[in-house]
Formats: sequence, C-alpha cells, structure tokens
Amino acid sequence: LTGPETTAIWFDMRRIVVTGGNRGLGLETCRQLARKGAHVVLAARDPEEAAKAAASLSSEGTVSPGTLDVVDERSIAAFAEACRSYGPLHGLVNNAGASFSGFDGDVARRTLDTNLRGPLRITDALQPLLEPGATVVMVSSQMGDLSVVSAGLQKELMAPDLDRAAVLAVADRFVRAVSDGKHERLGFPSNAYSVSKLLLNALTRVLARELQDLRVNAVCPGWVKTRMGGRSAPRSVEEGASGITWAALLGVEGPTGGLFRDGQPIDW
Ligand SMILES: NC(=O)c1ccc[n+]([C@@H]2O[C@H](COP(=O)([O-])OP(=O)(O)OC[C@H]3O[C@@H](n4cnc5c(N)ncnc54)[C@H](OP(=O)(O)O)[C@@H]3O)[C@@H](O)[C@H]2O)c1
Repeated sequence: LTGPETTAIWFDMRRIVVTGGNRGLGLETCRQLARKGAHVVLAARDPEEAAKAAASLSSEGTVSPGTLDVVDERSIAAFAEACRSYGPLHGLVNNAGASFSGFDGDVARRTLDTNLRGPLRITDALQPLLEPGATVVMVSSQMGDLSVVSAGLQKELMAPDLDRAAVLAVADRFVRAVSDGKHERLGFPSNAYSVSKLLLNALTRVLARELQDLRVNAVCPGWVKTRMGGRSAPRSVEEGASGITWAALLGVEGPTGGLFRDGQPIDW
C-alpha cells in the first residue's frame, strides 16, 4: 500500500510512550498525541497517578497507564515487559525530568541520574520494541546551552566521534568535581540541571548516529508554567508541549540528531 491512505492508517496506529506523563508537559503531550489519534502509553512512577491521569484523558483518545521510575532498573524492566503486550512502538518521549534544590555532589548525581541516565536507560530498554522510522524525543532545555561550560569541554562534547561512553564520562567527572569542590576549575557551572540538559543534547547526537533507523531529537519547550517552571513562566503547557508533539509525530523523512523549539532547529 502507498499514498495518503496508508499514511493515515500508520498515523492512526502510532503507539507512543510518554514518560512523566502524570502532570505538566508530559500530561499535555499525552493529551495532544491522543487527540491526533495515537495510542498513548502514559508512564508515571506512581501507578495511581498514572491511572488517574490516563482516565482524565479518556475522552481525548486511547491512553493506557504504565508504571515507570526512570532511575529504577527493575521498574524499567517491568515497564518494558508491559509495553511488549501492546506490540511495536512508534515513538518514545523522554519527558520525565527533575530540578532538585541545592547544589552538592548528591544533587549533581541525582540530577544526572534522572535527566541524563534515565532517558538513556529507557531508550535502551524500549529500543527493541521501536519500529524502524520511530521517533525518540528528549525533552531538553536551552539552559543546557554549550556556553555553560568551558571552551575545552565544548570542544570535547562537539567532537564528531563522541560516543555514549564519553558523554557518561563527562557526567561522572562533573559529579566527582562537584563533590571535591573543583567543578569550576574543570570548566563546569554550579548548576546540575544545566549540565544534565547539555549532556542530554550531546547524547541525542550520539544516539541519532547509533540508531540510524530511528529519528532521535531533542526539544526545548521554552520556559513553561508547570510545577518545575513556576507561575511566572511566559508559556502555557499547550505551547510548550506542541513542539514535543511535533517531534514525536515526525514522518520517516524527518530530521534526526537535532535540537528544536516549536518545530524549528536551534543552536546548542
Ligand atoms: N517547565 C519548563 O519551563 C521546562 C523548560 C525546559 C525543559 N523542561 C523539561 O520538561 C520536562 C517536563 O517538565 P515539567 O515542566 O512538566 O515539570 P514537572 O511538572 O515538574 O513534571 C516532571 C515530571 O517528571 C516526572 N519525574 C521526575 N522524576 C522521575 C522519575 N525518576 N521517574 C519517572 N518520572 C519522574 C514527575 O513525576 P512525579 O509527579 O512522580 O514527580 C513529573 O511527571 C522535564 O524534562 C523538564 O526538564 C521544562
């Protein structure tokens, strides 16, 4: 089958996982994807929250709840097993993320565990279920701009042969340096969230090269009114989520390895 009819069938059948789907940008992304005809698997770490959030979207389309804590290997394995029963996946939105208060070695470790290693673990666990042409979206931030680190680190992260081990090595170096009080001397800022999103952007480029039959992109939603973004943020969740939805529904000819905001490429 070819032509618009086939495209419509494939589009309607898209099955897309969204992590951190119980509130904020994740919940709104689930809503937008369900409205567009996707079968959404709304993942949240609290099963009751997942069920409640999925039920709240029942009038929008097909939304199934799932339990997933992105820092817990057992939870990830159980979630991947549960996803298997749905059949192949056409998209994964790595939206779950955290900004912890304070700044020390423990905050740095927990931030990178959630915002960098979390999306990597989920992508690895679900990769066998992702159909060729499927999308992987990393919900990132312009706070992870390259300019937050020294020129030396920028060069290291922009190396064309950068691989996942090198990205994770920079993450480990940052955590150690924060614990030892040496992070500024090594070219890092005193902001674990920025470093986590910068390394997530670098990881996006690496995964796009590793997973050439998928489209792997990072999206900055802008500064959005959510529990994390706060009330003074200028953007609504609808505005912030629309760029995430766009990247999750990219066609097979869509871009890969980029950072986007509102569907437009941006620098990092
Ligand atoms: N809001 C902004 O201005 C803004 C700007 C740029 C990027 N972002 C990014 O957008 C994404 C969504 O943020 P948001 O603004 O919607 O924030 P939010 O309202 O605080 O939501 C964060 C979501 O992540 C989940 N989460 C945190 N740790 C988790 C874990 N270990 N396992 C599973 N889920 C976990 C939370 O679940 P619980 O309810 O269980 O805590 C919640 O569903 C994040 O990646 C954030 O960094 C936000």
